[in-house]
Amino acid sequence: MQENQVGSMATYKRLMSYVTQYWVVFLFAVLGMIVVALTETAFAALMKPMLNGSFVEKDPEIIALIPLALIAIFLIRAIGSFVSGYGMSWIGRNLILTIRNQMFTKMLTLPDSYFDQNQAGTTISKFVYDTEQLANAATQSVTTLIRDTVTLIALIAWMLYLNVFLTLCFIVAAPLIGVLIAVVSKRFRTVSRRIQTSMGDVSSIVDQSVRAQRVVKIFGGHEFESNEFGLVNKRNRQQQLKLAFTTALSVPVIQLIIAVAMAGVIYLATMDGVKETVDVGTFMSFFFSMMMLFAPMKRLSNVNVDIQKGIAAANSAFNLLDQKSENDTGTKELSSVAGDIHYSNVCFEYETSHKRVLNNINLNIKHGQTVAFVGRSGSGKTTLVNLLPRLYELNEGVIEIDGHDSRDYSLSSLRQHVAYVGQETVIFSATLRENIAYGLMSEASEEDIIKATKAAHAMEFINDLPDGLNTYVGDKGIQLSGGQRQRIAIARALLRNSPILILDEATSALDTESERHIQEALEELVKNRTTMVIAHRLSTIENADLIVVMDQGEIVEQGTHEELIQRENGSYSALHQIQFKNADEKSVV
Ligand SMILES: Nc1ncnc2c1ncn2[C@@H]1O[C@H](COP(=O)(O)OP(=O)(O)O)[C@@H](O)[C@H]1O
Ligand SMILES: [Mg+2]
Repeated sequence: MQENQVGSMATYKRLMSYVTQYWVVFLFAVLGMIVVALTETAFAALMKPMLNGSFVEKDPEIIALIPLALIAIFLIRAIGSFVSGYGMSWIGRNLILTIRNQMFTKMLTLPDSYFDQNQAGTTISKFVYDTEQLANAATQSVTTLIRDTVTLIALIAWMLYLNVFLTLCFIVAAPLIGVLIAVVSKRFRTVSRRIQTSMGDVSSIVDQSVRAQRVVKIFGGHEFESNEFGLVNKRNRQQQLKLAFTTALSVPVIQLIIAVAMAGVIYLATMDGVKETVDVGTFMSFFFSMMMLFAPMKRLSNVNVDIQKGIAAANSAFNLLDQKSENDTGTKELSSVAGDIHYSNVCFEYETSHKRVLNNINLNIKHGQTVAFVGRSGSGKTTLVNLLPRLYELNEGVIEIDGHDSRDYSLSSLRQHVAYVGQETVIFSATLRENIAYGLMSEASEEDIIKATKAAHAMEFINDLPDGLNTYVGDKGIQLSGGQRQRIAIARALLRNSPILILDEATSALDTESERHIQEALEELVKNRTTMVIAHRLSTIENADLIVVMDQGEIVEQGTHEELIQRENGSYSALHQIQFKNADEKSVV
């Protein structure tokens, strides 16, 4: 509990450090708030001369002045109100802008392991929901805290000036309200934290079902998905209602307490011995002040809720910001790479896999060589090649590139020399040209783009599209077939023209005909670069300089096609036989 409060304070301080960056605007806004608070009190104070002077004593000077004073008060108030209202909104929107940008930048540097462990929906909800909430805590509640506290103090000071006895009686009621607020707010913290997780769950499930909608339909997953969503949705409602219940209950209870206090004051003011000291103006001004205390008190009693909600949201956002980025301590800049790759005693375990996925891998690849990896699915081929561009950190062993530990290079300079076609092809919502000339290659010349596209045999289908390379694809554009997507991904990698090329089942979605064409193009391409290729069809890798056979995270055989095929009882020759047989059967059909 104690620790929790310290944590909340630290979070709030950190949140406010963003606000104080805009201290000039903040200063004006705070000034505006104070002006609003003081004019509020001035308005209550005006009651006294208005009633006594204008109506009781009928003083002509006061009669003339009061309306002007009233207008003046509200004019000043309007200015203060605008400056504080707009100023705080300005700070709030800038706060959201800054934090969102920071979160996004951070997100792009997070290691793969973060994405293995966190659902996309949770991360999305941090961007969409939490940032709004924390800005609210930083601006709205600060406004309430400052403006309403000043109002409260000024009004009570005025009331004390009017009548000490009555004011003290009123103040007695305050601790009661205080206790109530404390009880209520404690409950909020837990509830609002739970709401945030359940918001994340809602978006996660929607996100997943949207992406899997086809599988859901065909495999009849409607009921399962609906049930799961129903549960999460219901839990969200429960949490929200709990929050609403506490809010809805606390307000009228506080109002009731205040009403009782007001009734008490009327009773006290009309007591013998007191009523002689209170004239009409004083009483009305006092009563009016008390009524005006009501709104700021109510807001102040709720402010804790907003702050707690904001702190919970800020914790969630800061949690993302505090994630460890990818290790990037290497300082060597690779300007050019030959492409000698050396794995020695490499062991690897995913944070979530709890078992070694790669065990003692030793591998020597000379520059310009093409190395093919084969083996059952799950044997660790993808993991092995992903370690080269350091998508994951090694647990043990070293991977050397051109004789230096790959960790000594800066990530950007290392990756700059690696082109990659992953197992899952990624297509951005953008034009085909932007998809191919992506990232570092966005400035590529038209000639190079067309060359790469042709080599990937993507030009054939692109030419049939009405806008050619300018066709918009992805979520909001035309959809591509699996093979077309792969060809785009290959074109992207070819355009990169890097000394190291990784192809992870890059042609698995292509028909044999297209694959053969691309194969020819690739053969041309791999000539002067180091290529790591994971093949699903052995026929495509017979010419590789080295074939590495993997099983259960270990290299079980390596050699050329000729060497391996001759081994009796060898894994490769066994695999080869199976595929060969299949191919025969296919040709018969
Ligand atoms: N992101 C991940 N988190 C945890 N385990 C993983 C992850 N990716 C792969 N694995 C596990 O690592 C093993 C090797 O997978 P992978 O390298 O993808 O094999 P392959 O490419 O040969 O099919 C498998 O047992 C798989 O379950
Ligand atoms: Mg794989």
